[in-house]
Amino acid sequence: MKGELSEFGIGEGISEVIATTESEKGEPNAAPVGIINRGRYFVRLYKGSKTLSNVLKTHKIAANVSNDALLFVISAFQNLSEAHFTRFQGFPVLRDADAWVIFKCEPTSSGNDFFEFELRAQAAKVNKRRVRAINRGLNAIIEATILATRLKLYANDCDDAILEKINYYEGIVEKCGGEREKEAMKMLKMLVF
Ligand SMILES: Cc1cc2nc3c(=O)[nH]c(=O)nc-3n(C[C@H](O)[C@H](O)[C@H](O)COP(=O)(O)O)c2cc1C
Repeated sequence: MKGELSEFGIGEGISEVIATTESEKGEPNAAPVGIINRGRYFVRLYKGSKTLSNVLKTHKIAANVSNDALLFVISAFQNLSEAHFTRFQGFPVLRDADAWVIFKCEPTSSGNDFFEFELRAQAAKVNKRRVRAINRGLNAIIEATILATRLKLYANDCDDAILEKINYYEGIVEKCGGEREKEAMKMLKMLVF
């Protein structure tokens, strides 16, 4: 499959999605990642994640497009339950994704703590077409969750600064978020603190 993926929700810049992968034994895994659009598509996966170890073995990843704040938080820290997954030609994707794209992954570069892969779309589907205005509460959850995954990765001197930022984002979620974003913030605090 060739061409532009914006009709599947993967636009310019970096698109935050929930990646699904599977282990050699076929166990599904989900975790947030950013799909990088440089004209061609890439993903940078940091060492230590299940997603990276699965991709190194299977050379496949699905980008699931979702606006569900709670799914981002849970999948960042735990795995999603089986009920969240369905399969397309045997590969796990999220049942509730607005859209998904399944990519073949080819390693292109690496650093001390990451591998980068070029992505080639093999299959894609739109499940739900919907319009949604920007919600600052959702954006704040995404920012807070990224920060929280850094807390988990590098327990270090910056922790206080990170916690302060998470508290700031919590204020935005309180002011601007809907129920789902508020639930996600509650869950994030439970998982992290
Ligand atoms: C919005 C968001 C984007 C993220 N993007 C990436 C990414 O591009 N690459 C990466 O390695 N980790 C990324 N992370 C962190 C991983 O999701 C996190 O380390 C997770 O615990 C990995 O789970 P796993 O072990 O199930 O793969 C991101 C986290 C969030 C919240």
